[in-house]
Amino acid sequence: MRFSNFLQLSLLTSTTAATASDQAAQEPIHHRLPQRPPPGHLPVMMPAPADDQVQPAVLLIDILGTQRSLTTFFSFSRMHEDTSEPLGDANTNTTVLAPNNIVIEDLPRKPWENPSDYDALGSQAYDGSGGKDRADENLRKFVQAHLVIGTSPWEAGAKVKTAAGTTIWWEAKKDDSGDEKRVIMPDGVEVDRVASRVANGEVWILKGVLNYA
Ligand SMILES: *[C@@H]1O[C@H](CO)[C@@H](O)[C@H](O)[C@H]1NC(C)=O
Repeated sequence: MRFSNFLQLSLLTSTTAATASDQAAQEPIHHRLPQRPPPGHLPVMMPAPADDQVQPAVLLIDILGTQRSLTTFFSFSRMHEDTSEPLGDANTNTTVLAPNNIVIEDLPRKPWENPSDYDALGSQAYDGSGGKDRADENLRKFVQAHLVIGTSPWEAGAKVKTAAGTTIWWEAKKDDSGDEKRVIMPDGVEVDRVASRVANGEVWILKGVLNYA
């Protein structure tokens, strides 16, 4: 089975699982008709995107699955223990820099692809079980490039290392309408918004991806 098929499957499976436990707060990866909650059930309300307020009883692992625009990134993060475990660790703060679903879907190079695999192995690079392992490993690095484990809150200008080992920091810039925007450097990726602040960290939604070479 080609890896892309495998991935579709695992995404579908994880979406189904999440839907069962957390019905209305989840949105499938691909567009679906709006669902009615079952009779007698009120829709689960999204936690309000509290600007500066920390939700003290909630962990990243709980909140990330409720962000409709981040289902793809969340699925990827759950594929490996070293990217999912920190999200549930109450003793370590992590800043999650999550590209939204559309950004990931539109990438010219898929998160599980690496040019060096194609250089070494040609177009068959992701076929078969060896291909699946390579793709898995690339996905792990993709998520790691978007996790700052051990830092949250994260001050402007503070240089930190991602779990993939890259050094990043962020700057505040004013956009055309004078609103302040956070930009992750050195890649210059804009932060759409800080979606949640919880007991063990923050989820920032990105409008692009960070270097996952
Ligand atoms: C971890 O994050 C919480 C919530 O923002 C904060 O209160 C706490 O001081 C942080 N801990 C460290 C070690 O930064």
